[in-house]
Amino acid sequence: MRLDKFLADSQIGTRSQVKEFIKKGLVTVNGEVITKADYKIDENSDCIICKGNTLSYQKYRYFVLHKPSGVITATKDNHDKTVMDLLPKELSGGFFPVGRLDKDTEGFLLITNDGELSHRLLSPKKHVAKTYYVECSGELTTEKVAQLEQGLHIGDEKPTLPAKVETLKIEKTSYVIKLTITEGRFHQVKRMIQAIGGEVTYLKRLSMGGLVLDELLQKGDYRELTHEEVGILKRN
Ligand code: URA
Repeated sequence: MRLDKFLADSQIGTRSQVKEFIKKGLVTVNGEVITKADYKIDENSDCIICKGNTLSYQKYRYFVLHKPSGVITATKDNHDKTVMDLLPKELSGGFFPVGRLDKDTEGFLLITNDGELSHRLLSPKKHVAKTYYVECSGELTTEKVAQLEQGLHIGDEKPTLPAKVETLKIEKTSYVIKLTITEGRFHQVKRMIQAIGGEVTYLKRLSMGGLVLDELLQKGDYRELTHEEVGILKRN
C-alpha cells in the first residue's frame, strides 16, 4: 500500500495534508524518514510513525452521531447542512451515514466507511431493531396500539411488520410512545402514526442494532464506537 494512502486512511489528515507531512520528513517507516508519498509499505508489519505517533492501520471505522434536527442525512447537499458537516474533514472521504433520518428527526445515526456492515444493517431480510421516542398529536387507544403491534397498512404493498409499543404518556389529544420497528421504510414511523389517525410532532431514534444513544452525547456531537460496540453491531 502507498504510504500516503495508509496515512490518509489512518485519519490523521486529508490526502494532501499527509503528502505535506511526508514531504516535510515527519514520517518514518521502520525508523527511516521517508519523503516519497508513493513509497510502498506493508500495513501489517511495518512500523509507521507520523509526528511522533505510531499508527496502526484501521481499514474501517465506526462513529455514532447524535443527529440534531435541521441537518439532512446525506454526504453532500447544495442547500442544507448535512450530517457529514458535523464530523471532522478527514472523515469526508469514504464515510457515509447508515440509513436515513428525516431532516427533523434527531438521535442515533451510525457513520462508517464499512459498506458491507452498512448493507447488512439495512437489509430488509435482517430485521435490525430500531427504537424511536415518538411524541404525537391525536388520541391513542388500546385498539390503535394493537394495530401498531400487529402491523398495519401505511400505503405500501405490504403491511408493516409487527412493532413493539411502550406507552410513556397519554393525554386526551396527545401521547408519547417508544416504538420499536424492524424495517426501514421511507418515513415509516410518521406513516405508521398517520395510519392510526395521529401525527408525529417530535421524533428521536434511541437505538439501533443493539446500540443505544448515550445520554452524555450532546446533539450534534459524535464519538467513535468501542471495539465491543462494533462487535454488537456485527452480531446483527
Ligand atoms: N421514521 C420516520 O418517519 N422518520 C425517520 O426519520 C425515521 C423513521
